[in-house]
Amino acid sequence: MNILGIESSCDETGVAVYSTERGLLAHALHSQVDLHAVYGGVVPEIASRDHLRRVLPLITQVLKTAGIERADVIAYTAGPGLVGALMVGGGVANGLALAWDCPVVAVHHMEGHLLAPMLEDEPPEYPFLALLVSGGHSMLIEVRDFGDYELLGTTLDDAVGEAFDKTAKLLGLGYPGGPALAKLAEEGDDDAIALPRPMINKPGFDFSFSGLKTAVMLEVQKAEKEGLLDERRADIAASFQRAAVDTLVTRALQAAKKRNLQRIVVAGGVGANKLLRSEVARRFEGAVYYPRMEFCTDNGAMIAIAGALRVAQASAAGEVRAEARWSMETL
Ligand code: KG4
Ligand code: ZN
Repeated sequence: MNILGIESSCDETGVAVYSTERGLLAHALHSQVDLHAVYGGVVPEIASRDHLRRVLPLITQVLKTAGIERADVIAYTAGPGLVGALMVGGGVANGLALAWDCPVVAVHHMEGHLLAPMLEDEPPEYPFLALLVSGGHSMLIEVRDFGDYELLGTTLDDAVGEAFDKTAKLLGLGYPGGPALAKLAEEGDDDAIALPRPMINKPGFDFSFSGLKTAVMLEVQKAEKEGLLDERRADIAASFQRAAVDTLVTRALQAAKKRNLQRIVVAGGVGANKLLRSEVARRFEGAVYYPRMEFCTDNGAMIAIAGALRVAQASAAGEVRAEARWSMETL
């Protein structure tokens, strides 16, 4: 069975074909980063219009690469995300499914991130702890089995990717700042500036990143006043990255211990962060799993494999599902 996956929840149009017999056959991505960079963040209306321009050519391209003319099932991201952007992927998915006379699967974007490591040669077995970290979410989830999720902790304010992006903006690194900040951090001393590790001594497994962002803002203002910002930029970036990663890893280890879980999956855009990947591996005694780098950030492959695993919930085409908010625990 061939599943066509379509991702359009934010600023990336991702399309892929996954075969239940042969694995991933093709995938393609168009990033809108350049379109939004001038505004310093994603502009929803611009995102929707660009998905509309890109999605059909990308579908034609992946079908050709996969060597098929049509899919047997179409999986699309139905949320959480920007409703207008979701409607484009969902509309195309439903339209094509009507034309091909095949069913559709409405996929949860974060379940897509969670299942992305299943595309790798040595996928994790259940149960595991998932650290899902992206631009919109920071979650710790006990994954007892496929579809059996308990949310252990979430962020009380900013998502960690958002904190990376906002800190990068304060440092004048443009949008999206996560990867740029991580690169600059390589040149800095991560011990140079004392920053908080929010919440790590509080009970429970929630996160909070707005205080860390404010602490960085004060450091930037101080450096500006002293005329030393250029000199301190890399140290601030490195100290921020270290504090954010320490916080995520400490919390994840606390949760894994409490729930007696021997495996951790790190996924979502911030899962591409090299320091995070190496620190989880260094500090956790059990096994650690990640998607390959390109499948950490938004992509069609994770939606296609999630659709394959959720095929029992496929339904007739004709109604587009688009949810701005959607809890994973209801899946
Ligand atoms: O999963 P994703 O592509 O989109 C959402 O679902 O939000 O995640 C995007 C987020 C952005 O905040 C971006 O800055 C961050 O992931 N990100 C990184 C890195 N690569 C992407 N943050 C830190 N280090 C990275 N290497
Ligand atoms: Zn995402």
